[in-house]
Amino acid sequence: MSHAAHDRASRNNRVRILHLTDLHLRQAIPGTATKAERLSRAMPAALERLSAKLPALAADVVALTGDLLDVPDVEAGGLGGNDAPPSPALAQHAEADYRLMKDWLESTGLPYLVIPGNHDHEAIYDRVFGAPPAVRDLAGVRFVAFRDELDADRTPLRTGARRALFEEAVAGGGMDGPWQVHLQHYMIHPPTVAGWRYNYRGSRRMKRMIEQAGRVRAVLSGHYHPGSLAVSRDGVHYSVPPAFCSAPHPFRLMDVAADGTVSYRDVCVDGPAPAKERR
Ligand SMILES: [Fe+2]
Repeated sequence: MSHAAHDRASRNNRVRILHLTDLHLRQAIPGTATKAERLSRAMPAALERLSAKLPALAADVVALTGDLLDVPDVEAGGLGGNDAPPSPALAQHAEADYRLMKDWLESTGLPYLVIPGNHDHEAIYDRVFGAPPAVRDLAGVRFVAFRDELDADRTPLRTGARRALFEEAVAGGGMDGPWQVHLQHYMIHPPTVAGWRYNYRGSRRMKRMIEQAGRVRAVLSGHYHPGSLAVSRDGVHYSVPPAFCSAPHPFRLMDVAADGTVSYRDVCVDGPAPAKERR
């Protein structure tokens, strides 16, 4: 975090996260997403309009939870290293579009946290973004980013090293540890409509672990394009902003106060913010 952002965060006694998700961007990649409301080709201009709003938003951190790009045919493999090798032309185009995304993130002048989603191509994403540490402390808040996978029937899974990271994070630091914010592409809570698998296998147990440990204040996800927000009795915010790829290009500002209280506000690049969705 820059000194200016850190000073502002401590002055305001809170950390403000600008959370956007599911851009499905295509600029060098030809064509557009299969669903018409995903405005892949409008994303570069929408990001520029978002940049113009940044000074007024007073964010300290940018969080981006996957589906940065809409890489054709990547859905066949999903995450977990199973993505089919792309044609040389597609690899070149996807790399150019990841560079565009990275340049935009750098241009904000803010620290950022980013993870790929199931429409990203992991190997090409890694060429541009590398492997940043999964755990980062920014302005007194511990951010933990999870890159999870889909199993053969397309249910999100957190296994192996990612599971160990999760268990260590929720147990780590004890009650004196820093507040935590977790990022992942898929959802832990609330359960979504039957028929499509947005939530992790074992998500109810993951939710229980988060709430028993008591240090995680916000669980930021993407993937579910309508967006959602659920708050546990103890104030843990499970948050999915509506997908940025659809007009009017919504995103969410989440504030984590020094006492662990979370508040949020939905904002749009174009026009008024959509009505808050509470569950
Ligand atoms: Fe998506």
